[in-house]
Amino acid sequence: MQPTGYPELDALLPRLAAIGSLEAEALEAERVAILGRKQGVLTQALRALPKLSPDDRRRFGAEANRLKAAFEEAFLAREGQLGTAKAAGPLAGQDLTMPGRGRWIGALHPVTRVMQEVVEIFRELGFAVAVGPEAETEWYNFGALNFPADHPAMDMHDTLYLTEGPRGRGEEGKRDEGRMLLRTHTSPVQIRVMQSGPPPYRVVIPGMVYRNDPWDASHAPGFAQIEGLAVDEGIGFRDLKATLTHFARRFFDARTRVRFRPSYFPFTEPSAELDVECQICHGGGCPACKQTGWMELLGCGMVHPKVLENCGVDSERYTGWAFGLGPGRTAQQRYDIPDIRLEYGGDMRFLRQLAGQDRP
Ligand code: DAH
Repeated sequence: MQPTGYPELDALLPRLAAIGSLEAEALEAERVAILGRKQGVLTQALRALPKLSPDDRRRFGAEANRLKAAFEEAFLAREGQLGTAKAAGPLAGQDLTMPGRGRWIGALHPVTRVMQEVVEIFRELGFAVAVGPEAETEWYNFGALNFPADHPAMDMHDTLYLTEGPRGRGEEGKRDEGRMLLRTHTSPVQIRVMQSGPPPYRVVIPGMVYRNDPWDASHAPGFAQIEGLAVDEGIGFRDLKATLTHFARRFFDARTRVRFRPSYFPFTEPSAELDVECQICHGGGCPACKQTGWMELLGCGMVHPKVLENCGVDSERYTGWAFGLGPGRTAQQRYDIPDIRLEYGGDMRFLRQLAGQDRP
């Protein structure tokens, strides 16, 4: 190769000429010394290009690249002679005898999938999504929702408290003084939504909730819920029944039978439980539905006037209905998952089975 006119580069020419006589080990060392990605002399010279004047950059750059090409050719030629040539192109430098790396195939978690579908069905009906904090005050979690102080309904929820203090339901006006807790349901977000502005409200509220429950086949201390709330003028129980029946049939099957059973919640009056035909035996009776032919889908009811008033909503003018659903339980019903710990335990052996599986 002709001298480049740059002493720094020309100093490498004798080394270029010597390549043809190097043996395998020295050859590899020399390749790293000249072309190595970090310490290579030429690599470093090229890396300094941006610091030069535009004119020098062009001329020096051209010479340095010419030299680099000459070195690459010389190394390849010598490697060819020695029989140590490596594959060129995208496979250069790779050990082709190594076993391939397994690829992870991602999939939506069954609980996430149910939550997204519920949100989608209600989105079509004009419901927006709202969220609220998982660390709540007693007032939002209980008091505002019409739980009487010391009522056993509060025991029912087996609350995980975050701060100490006297037992109670929290008081309006002293919201910051009550105990903090991990919300036991998504219902407190109803309150936050209604406080955020005037009616009407049509929202669904997905989120995690927490209870001091054991970790067994049918309990988890943290699990998902979806809440729904519709408040407007002239809303009646028929709207609740029609909307939730539509929801159940969109979610399961257009012909799925549903039934409403009377129930009790402090924040709704009247309250009901919505059952759907068992998705496994379709009403015949099986172990999954404990031979009843029905599966509990959600709790619901007409929003208690006191709850509306607690949020400053005129209960003479506005009425509404609400529901709360456990997507974990719903996913168990739909995908026939026998143990709730499979859903919330993070066991990859379980989750991987679901990749790419839409319905069983
Ligand atoms: N918050 C209830 C629970 O966690 C579920 C529920 C029932 C929510 C009825 C509602 C409702 O909004 O109307 O058990």
